Amino acid sequence: MKALITAGGQGTRLRPITYTINKHLFPIANEPMIFHALRKVAKAGIKEVAININQGDKELPQEIGNGKKFGLKITYLEQKGGALGLAHIISNAKEWIGKDDLLFYLGDNIVAGDLSGLVDKFYKEKLDCLLTLSKVRDPERFGVPIIKSSRIVEVEEKPKNPKSDFAVTGIYVYKPIIIEAAAAIKPSARGEYEISDAHTYLIKKGYKVGFEEITGWWKDTGKPEDLLEGNSLILSSFSGLNLPTKKYPETIKIEGAVKIGKGTKLKGHVVVRGPVAIGENCLIEDSCIDPYTAVGSNVVIQGTEVSHSIVCDGTQILDCGVRIVDSLIGRNSVVKAEDYSLPSGHKLVVGDNAQVEL
Ligand code: G1P
Repeated sequence: MKALITAGGQGTRLRPITYTINKHLFPIANEPMIFHALRKVAKAGIKEVAININQGDKELPQEIGNGKKFGLKITYLEQKGGALGLAHIISNAKEWIGKDDLLFYLGDNIVAGDLSGLVDKFYKEKLDCLLTLSKVRDPERFGVPIIKSSRIVEVEEKPKNPKSDFAVTGIYVYKPIIIEAAAAIKPSARGEYEISDAHTYLIKKGYKVGFEEITGWWKDTGKPEDLLEGNSLILSSFSGLNLPTKKYPETIKIEGAVKIGKGTKLKGHVVVRGPVAIGENCLIEDSCIDPYTAVGSNVVIQGTEVSHSIVCDGTQILDCGVRIVDSLIGRNSVVKAEDYSLPSGHKLVVGDNAQVEL
């Protein structure tokens, strides 16, 4: 079995973050989002992976590399003709897929559990297609299965009136027949070759389409709180302490599952309450880092409490005097107390499409 992972698109719903970074590279628990998909795939025993990228994208191949560090052989496939839908990505990859079975994984999805169980079920039940379902509050944003007598009879893409409260998640297992299905369908009203239509095609043609309900599924749906939820999901899987040194003075308190990278210094009075990830070469001084926070590398946090947030590489948070919560702070930013310069007051340099709550 091979795996095809998607990493294209413009990430318009995640602006302004995606003006400067491909959303699949945005850090979730201090690792590019797509690394979580790559690790899952490798853990399921798959070796050959193709990543679908935008035409001309050089950044993603450069950041991810040839896959060696994941134990994978990675090929990059540019989506010819542009972002024309998930089924189009399958068609674009048909030569690479060849006659092999395929795990299709949307790179903006994260699952808490293992994928090997899904692969086992696919073979045990001799399926042509295995869909993973998860209960959601807003099925109208997803592909939604119509289930009758424990069988999926149709999959509707983003229906106005969903007929179930399940979403089809972005992790699919296929026999190569999916290539025929992807080629047979017509573009939808939004101009995309919908993967849901390819699934309905398989069902109507009598192919064996099974499903498995999964929990602990996350997909970025475009809002900052969605990224924070993904970050929390991965941080929750942390256990124990992973620290560069055991020798911290009594003024440093570290509780719960905490991972701190090498070269990072904790100074003065510091409380770190896990699950928390802190990268390399940071300085955390007289500050409190509360649960579900990921701090990148080369970050300085002084005199501030940060909770349930993502702080990206190279950022400085200085003596804020307020608690920073539920926040996404991009790379190389400065967030500091207003009395660093006069006149006093909130001084902002905020890029397009940003959100700030004062
Ligand atoms: C896509 C699929 C949808 C599926 C979802 C899961 O949606 O079209 O069927 O439920 O991924 O991530 P999109 O990312 O285009 O909104």
